[in-house]
Amino acid sequence: MTDSSKHKKKVVKDSGLSFKKPSQVDLEKRTFLTYATTAVAAAGALTTGVPFLGSMLPSERAKAAGAPVEFDVSQVAPGTIAITEWRGKPVWVINRTDEMTAELPKHNDQLSDPNCDVESQQPVYCKNAGRAIKPNIGVVVGLCTHLGCAPTAKLEAGGDMGENWTGGFFCPCHGSKFDLAGRVFKGSPAPTNLVVPPHSYLEDGTLLIGVDTIDATAEA
Ligand code: FES
Repeated sequence: MTDSSKHKKKVVKDSGLSFKKPSQVDLEKRTFLTYATTAVAAAGALTTGVPFLGSMLPSERAKAAGAPVEFDVSQVAPGTIAITEWRGKPVWVINRTDEMTAELPKHNDQLSDPNCDVESQQPVYCKNAGRAIKPNIGVVVGLCTHLGCAPTAKLEAGGDMGENWTGGFFCPCHGSKFDLAGRVFKGSPAPTNLVVPPHSYLEDGTLLIGVDTIDATAEA
């Protein structure tokens, strides 16, 4: 069991990022490169209103050393996504709705690695359709596995992604497509699913990125 006291929390009160309501901004065009180096929190909302999101980050020195990062997932509303940072990389925290999660197994035939058989891309306890410990909470490194671009959130079904699109992420660099669990669609230049970092949950439900506190050899 991880001792949460070892991971000193720093609640970021103001990320310094400004947000507009979905009606005021085209969320589909928002790139995830907006994550900042200090307070990293952003949202792409499906529902009305963009929630304030706070992340809890260790010191800059600790981050540079690869320290675990705590994140309060309760601040991420269903159907939205937030970004934090771990080891210098953007990490998406996706709070899928029940409908989004239920959709995931339905398009397995369109995916390159639907069953997460490429072991390097996720811990074994995330070898499931949601690639997650908690079915609705996805935790994914937000870097395309082709050449490392930052994919764009296309969380909503349909839209400019076409009527068959059920929500996910689109990498504008060369056209790779990923579902809401970060699994890559066939025909994409990206060779593998997005990386799921090691993560776990503290006793109070806080997400801890960078630490396995359950048996990392046990499949979900
Ligand atoms: S870097 Fe994403 S498709 Fe090439």
